[in-house]
Amino acid sequence: MRYANITGWGKCLPPAVLSNDDLGSFLDTSDDWIQSRTGIRTRRISHVNTSELATVAARHALAAAGLEPTQIDGIILATASPDSLVPSAASAVQRNLGIPAAAVFDLNAACTGFLYGLSVGSALIKAGGMNRLLVIGAERLTHYLDWTRRDTAVLFGDGAGAVVLEASEAPVGLLADKLGCDAEARDILAVPDSGTCRTRFAHVDGLFEVNFEGQEIFKRAVRGMGEAAAVVLDQAGVGPEHIDLLLPHQANVRIIETLAKKMALPPEKVMINIADYGNTSAATVPIALCEALERGRIRPGALLLTAAFGAGLTWGAGVIRW
Ligand code: ACO
Repeated sequence: MRYANITGWGKCLPPAVLSNDDLGSFLDTSDDWIQSRTGIRTRRISHVNTSELATVAARHALAAAGLEPTQIDGIILATASPDSLVPSAASAVQRNLGIPAAAVFDLNAACTGFLYGLSVGSALIKAGGMNRLLVIGAERLTHYLDWTRRDTAVLFGDGAGAVVLEASEAPVGLLADKLGCDAEARDILAVPDSGTCRTRFAHVDGLFEVNFEGQEIFKRAVRGMGEAAAVVLDQAGVGPEHIDLLLPHQANVRIIETLAKKMALPPEKVMINIADYGNTSAATVPIALCEALERGRIRPGALLLTAAFGAGLTWGAGVIRW
């Protein structure tokens, strides 16, 4: 039996920091409101494209795995903010890394994108067609934000995280996963006037309108992640008490705390870093994974539970043996 082991990991966080007080200097908001409602203190702002962030994270992941870029068979780049519509941002990463031949593609499942990528990448390796893959979550969402809208401008940040997957005989890596999409509610988190729907070319300021129903998303996020988590724990034949660390998507600290409470997980078993980076969409989970490793919170053999939720409304969860 083949498994897909995570043998390398890396992240890229742009150095420019935007604090809540900075936002309060041009928006009708406050550090107190943002922290108490979301848990966010600061976020990073990138001045380079998504593929550049992804490339840096990928280089770190390759170094951690002790691999040369030329040994990689494929790249899956989860992003909702690619550099351009065509070609893919994954192809830019491939070129930047100098990989002559690899199967590369972008994957858009919004904030659940990294989990979708991990699932697809692990399946490709388990099926035997590939031996080494990069799975990356990278976003430059602040590029799209309307900085006059306090309801959304305070929530997001830029960044990237990457892992290397390698074929393994040992039962490690993503052992169980459950993915889905609640498409009937797709309009409550949407950028409708974009892509081929974009009709208003008179928009010289380039701003995108965002449909955003925060409270409804909040409720569905808690429910979707909780239900998916229950399914994967069952698939893996374990209970919440066997989980060493929950690695959730970082959209709101209150969503994470509600999920952890439902599963009776104590704070030391929950990875939270939203205070520093805000919601980096597809990048939150791999960035949180890297930081958990850097802080010594993941030991060999540890059992991890990850769960995410995002536009679509996509949802998913996975159990990972480290
Ligand atoms: N600063 C100050 N006041 C604000 C701000 C702000 N930045 N934003 C909204 N408000 C005001 C509103 O106008 C409203 O005022 P009113 O009562 O006078 O009308 C009041 O604060 C309460 O607004 P709510 O939207 O009810 O606030 P809520 O407690 O629901 O928090 C939030 C909003 C943080 C967006 C929350 O709903 C949330 O986290 N939702 C889920 C996460 C999410 O949507 N993330 C986006 C990506 S999707 C994903 O990653 C899963």
